Amino acid sequence: MPHWNTLNGLPSRIIAHRGASGYRPEHTLDGYALAAVQGADVLEPDLVMSRDGVLFARHDLVLSRSTDISTRTEFAARARVTAGVRDWWIGDFDAAELDTLRAIQPFPERGRQYDGRFVVPRFSMVLDLAKKAAAEQGREIAIYPELKDPGYFLALGLDPVAALHAELESHGLLGPASPVWIQCFDHAVLRAAKQCCGNPCFALLETVPADLRERDALLRGLAAWAQGVAPGKYQLWDNAGKHTGLVAAAHAHGLQVHAWTFRDDHPPAPFALARAELEAAFALGLDALFCDFPDTAVAARAAFAESL
Ligand code: G3P
Ligand code: CA
Repeated sequence: MPHWNTLNGLPSRIIAHRGASGYRPEHTLDGYALAAVQGADVLEPDLVMSRDGVLFARHDLVLSRSTDISTRTEFAARARVTAGVRDWWIGDFDAAELDTLRAIQPFPERGRQYDGRFVVPRFSMVLDLAKKAAAEQGREIAIYPELKDPGYFLALGLDPVAALHAELESHGLLGPASPVWIQCFDHAVLRAAKQCCGNPCFALLETVPADLRERDALLRGLAAWAQGVAPGKYQLWDNAGKHTGLVAAAHAHGLQVHAWTFRDDHPPAPFALARAELEAAFALGLDALFCDFPDTAVAARAAFAESL
């Protein structure tokens, strides 16, 4: 097999970002299942918690963007106005109430034909689906939960790390060899998850220091306990498409690099086409790519492999 520029020399992995979210409402069982069929190596659920401590796959702390709650008269009085915005907060709802909601398409440019058809899945349902999909496909499919906004839940007296540990333990998915990888922007919480669960952990990076010595110090510190970093893709190239050296710097510390988010339908500046951006990412040696359209990335990866 040709050698890739990834940390282990193997092809980059394709992460289905919020499921196959380019084709289905994000974080739905149908979207995760489609991603597995399209060849994604990894399924990404963002995790939030209900008032009674159950983990759900959802991106936001508020519910109006990706669920039909604004049409539910039974919940109308439960909306709150925060900073002038009226919405429904996940921490105000029990799991049984969240089970009654249905997902909707949050991106205006994507199709709405699936609105109202799919439940808002509990994390346990995502784990069960991934196990079934892996058996059907005859290959390992990893799950990559992101602990969203842990500070919000801790302030409510909930503990996302403990809840994650309990869920993984009940599914036999704890430990360094588990196909469940954990990600979080809050590195203190992520490190606590590492100590508690032992699973591979990846530090999300909203920004990276421009100063190279500061960047190196950040990477060295993370390499002491994390398996990789997950920066926004805008940190990989400058406006002219010249790489910033971040991937090679992280690899030098033994850290994988997973970047987000690759989308067919959003302009991928500085690249003219999504396909060109994917090719540049493979050439750079990204270890994994978060993708809304997994089939596009899987096809681009196959074409890139042919070119090696
Ligand atoms: O978790 C990686 C990436 O998904 C972070 O962005 O906002 O899509 O969760 P977001
Ligand atoms: Ca995420």
